Amino acid sequence: MYQPIQLPYSFSSFVPKLSEKTLKNHYEGHYLRYLKQLNQILANQNFSFSYQAPSLYRNIDAFPIIIRDDILFQTGGVLNHELYFQSISPSKVEVPEPLKSKLTEKYGGIGQFEDRLFSLAAELPGSGYTFLAVNPSGDLVLLNLANQDSPYMFGMIPILAFDVWEHSYYLDYLNHRAEYLENMIPFLNYQNINQLYKQALTEQKSI
Ligand SMILES: [Fe+2]
Repeated sequence: MYQPIQLPYSFSSFVPKLSEKTLKNHYEGHYLRYLKQLNQILANQNFSFSYQAPSLYRNIDAFPIIIRDDILFQTGGVLNHELYFQSISPSKVEVPEPLKSKLTEKYGGIGQFEDRLFSLAAELPGSGYTFLAVNPSGDLVLLNLANQDSPYMFGMIPILAFDVWEHSYYLDYLNHRAEYLENMIPFLNYQNINQLYKQALTEQKSI
């Protein structure tokens, strides 16, 4: 069975920008439910859990066609939430290298990158995530995907996920998604994003 990640901060870490109730319900009510459902579907298929969840995308053809969509949806629900929770941090740090140089080269600066992320996330129709991902050429891509779709579906490795499903913010911001984004984008965990960026570059080269 896949095991849940533990948050490296408490549910109240982002108060007053994000309430304890929102974060607790997001983790326990949404993320853990996706994990339970994914484990259940895979266990019903006698899956041996011999590889990590991201590899399910590559191996999806091994499962009956009738349950593939469900597996992909639940896998996205698990991995996208794990990345979202790891994409934010209550302790702000300088953007480390090599991510800083890459973001500056690509978007003109960290501020401009955050503005672009904000615009994309604000524009996303319905439910989904705004991702920063590394494509097979090692380049950075900012993209929106609907529901629980993942950049892994398109050969990219996600290194940042920003959840814009209403459950991420509705208790605190009602339908004012832009306010949620304005208040939470400053908490991006660039330490972790940089770590994942370096790993993704290595992985893309070795595929
Ligand atoms: Fe969510």
